[in-house]
Amino acid sequence: MMSSSLLIVKNLTVAFTTDEGGFNAVDNVSFEVQKGEIVGLVGESGCGKSVTALSLLRLIPSPPGDIRNGQVLFNSQDLLSLDIKALRQLRGSAISMIFQEPMAALSPLQRIGRQMVETLQLHSSMAAKDAWRQAEEWLTRVKIPNASERMFAYPFQLSGGMQQRIMIAMALMLHPELIIADEPTTALDVTIQAQVFDLILDMREEQTSILLITHDMGVVWEMCDRVLVMYASKIVEQGARDQIFFHAAHPYSRGLLRSIPRLKDNIERLPAIAGSVPSPLHYPSGCHFRDRCPHAFERCAKEEPPLVDLGSGHGAACFIAPDLVHNQDGVK
Ligand SMILES: Nc1ncnc2c1ncn2[C@@H]1O[C@H](COP(=O)(O)OP(=O)(O)OP(=O)(O)O)[C@@H](O)[C@H]1O
Ligand code: SF4
Ligand SMILES: [Mg+2]
Repeated sequence: MMSSSLLIVKNLTVAFTTDEGGFNAVDNVSFEVQKGEIVGLVGESGCGKSVTALSLLRLIPSPPGDIRNGQVLFNSQDLLSLDIKALRQLRGSAISMIFQEPMAALSPLQRIGRQMVETLQLHSSMAAKDAWRQAEEWLTRVKIPNASERMFAYPFQLSGGMQQRIMIAMALMLHPELIIADEPTTALDVTIQAQVFDLILDMREEQTSILLITHDMGVVWEMCDRVLVMYASKIVEQGARDQIFFHAAHPYSRGLLRSIPRLKDNIERLPAIAGSVPSPLHYPSGCHFRDRCPHAFERCAKEEPPLVDLGSGHGAACFIAPDLVHNQDGVK
């Protein structure tokens, strides 16, 4: 199959220095996003998803953050060594980011319409009148009621869900090649969430690629072509959606899948993965998952498991991945 990589991330390592000590929030992470592909990045809270996303565009606050190693090739250009002016030009045009916190992307002191028009005009030679009309259309597309009036509102006059939809409109309206969406729909109710996901799927039809961060495996199933599973600063498994959902080979991915709530179950499901994510200051030696892993054995404490190639783009960082991939009992 012919494929073309829009984004290639190689050996990305991001460290933080805090009063309590230093740690890697992202450790030797590598992955690719092809043109027109939706890639899900999943994992429990604190495992390094947002730090990964922010580092791609060098938006990590430094200090305390420091990109220690790696390459982020976007159309073969390394974003980590690009001069800051060229990088700014790419941000918001070729690459846009939908943040976990909508206010981070909106200017508090400017009316919505004005912000949107300025953004459009910054990246195209559009006349103000056309930009205004296009901005208003986008507000309607993200289901903002009374869009023409809302164009005159300040962000603080709108609800969190409304702010989030405006940020999504601003990210989509420039038709970027890559959208990095970090929990894009957390503040939205399910109906609106579904509508926003439809918009994102429409973008894919235009060959836009999307890195979609979520901890909702249901969303991954609905939306993603491929999945990256992250745990405690590392990618522990990656593969096509069906490889992950039907042939998960890493004990952590298998735990995440078991925790998907099923509609038929009215009972509260027990957390499928015992224990909790350790503090990054205290990741265990060897395999970071070993203190929660039902399969852990001696070697797991001594060596870090390398990514095992399971064929057809599927890989898992576990010593026994080749055995587990053939044994799916009780996973789903
Ligand atoms: N500015 C910062 N200073 C110090 N530590 C940080 C900073 N930002 C993130 N971290 C730490 O880096 C680790 C990874 O955080 P990150 O925000 O990437 O997690 P996440 O996977 O996005 O979690 P969530 O699902 O809750 O959004 C966490 O331990 C977090 O506390
Ligand atoms: S390497 Fe060992 S501890 Fe880590 S996931 Fe595999 S079996 Fe579990
Ligand atoms: Mg996050």
